[in-house]
Amino acid sequence: MTSLQAPKGTFDILPPDAERRQGLETAARKILGAAGYRRIETPAFEATELFARGVGEATDIVQKEMYTFDDGGGRSLTLRPEGTAPVCRAYVEHGMHKLPQPVKFWYLSSFFRAEQPQKGRYRQFWQVGAETIGAAGPETDAEMIVLLAELLEAMLVKGTRLRLSSLGSPETRQQYRERLTAYLREHESRLSSEVRDRIGLNPLRAFDATDPGTREVMAAAPRLLDALEADDAEHFAAVRELLDASDVRYEIDPTLVRGLDYYTRTVFEFTSDALGAQSGVGGGGRYDRLIEQLGGQPTPASGWAAGVERILMSGTEPPIAPDPVDLFIALSDRDAGTAAAAFVVAREARRAGMAAQLELTGRSLKGQLKQADRIGARYVAIVEGDSRATLKEMSSGEQQELSLSAVIPTVLRGSRLT
Ligand code: HAM
Repeated sequence: MTSLQAPKGTFDILPPDAERRQGLETAARKILGAAGYRRIETPAFEATELFARGVGEATDIVQKEMYTFDDGGGRSLTLRPEGTAPVCRAYVEHGMHKLPQPVKFWYLSSFFRAEQPQKGRYRQFWQVGAETIGAAGPETDAEMIVLLAELLEAMLVKGTRLRLSSLGSPETRQQYRERLTAYLREHESRLSSEVRDRIGLNPLRAFDATDPGTREVMAAAPRLLDALEADDAEHFAAVRELLDASDVRYEIDPTLVRGLDYYTRTVFEFTSDALGAQSGVGGGGRYDRLIEQLGGQPTPASGWAAGVERILMSGTEPPIAPDPVDLFIALSDRDAGTAAAAFVVAREARRAGMAAQLELTGRSLKGQLKQADRIGARYVAIVEGDSRATLKEMSSGEQQELSLSAVIPTVLRGSRLT
């Protein structure tokens, strides 16, 4: 029989990794909490229609990357590939438009996409994300960007670049698409066959092409940024001014396309050159039509999400201090009475607020002292029978015999516990 392994594109989060993630969670809570964002968590699966409607039928995510299954009762469910549509669903479902606006959320959750796994690209991955629902102004977009920049900075993510653009409104985008399609058809003979085949499907992809012929054609292609309506252009200019005023550096990238259909106006993406091909650390933008599309009232919104694995891969390894251990409870013999007494001491020590660990494997006394040293215990109590113990302070080696009931008060007095 072959041994079992985690499925392709998934991974285990072992304790050292879990501790690094804890560091990211703490930083996110601090930075986002200070700006008024509150934690939200939505279910791991949702009605498939939420993503079909929210993320967009024509996107790669909906077309190829969703884990969709029947719930047994004829309803189609999907493991969430992203968090924005679920958060908006929750906003509508719980009538949160009645709360003072905007409502500001953050989340740290796992998501699922059936992508080809590679470094930095998984089938189950984690995102930390933030969404501001119910605010239309450019300050919101700028604040979102600044907060993500701060989080990446706090996590010491190296070599970041911020690309920024505006997609205007869906109507402008549709008109632009038609113009671009016409332009590409005019220059069809100079395009690569791959781009030519996709003109009808996704003309914007032509901007990503690498062959010289297509690149030449694209250099002179019409740009969406030049076709924005006056109020969209004004909004974009205001976002840029706010970023300039906060010293956040960015590059305008008129070819920035995101893989989700809900965006309107501002879009952005942070990349890190410390990552390989999958260089996107986090991205987002404004999505003013999504809530309405999901059955809510027209409500402007803006947000981002960043990949937890990618942040940790491109950040500097922060030193992890192991949790302190105040007391290790060792057993002088294997009597049932001694074991029961040691068990009670461990429980009472924890109730008194100490970090206390009990010997669980039946090691020799020497082995137990070695284990206490390995975990960095400040004290070891060697329990002898049901009423006596020897208490040893590990740093000085000093030890003292005492009654079992004196162990906890002595450690509390002698330790720096408050
Ligand atoms: P997204 O760009 O699809 O946006 O994903 C955000 C981030 O999640 C990416 O920049 C990347 O770091 C990480 N990520 C995506 N797919 C994978 C994967 N297969 N493996 C590892 N990491 C991955 C969204 O999901 C939007 N919901 C962001 C948003 C929030 N827009 C507005 N509000």
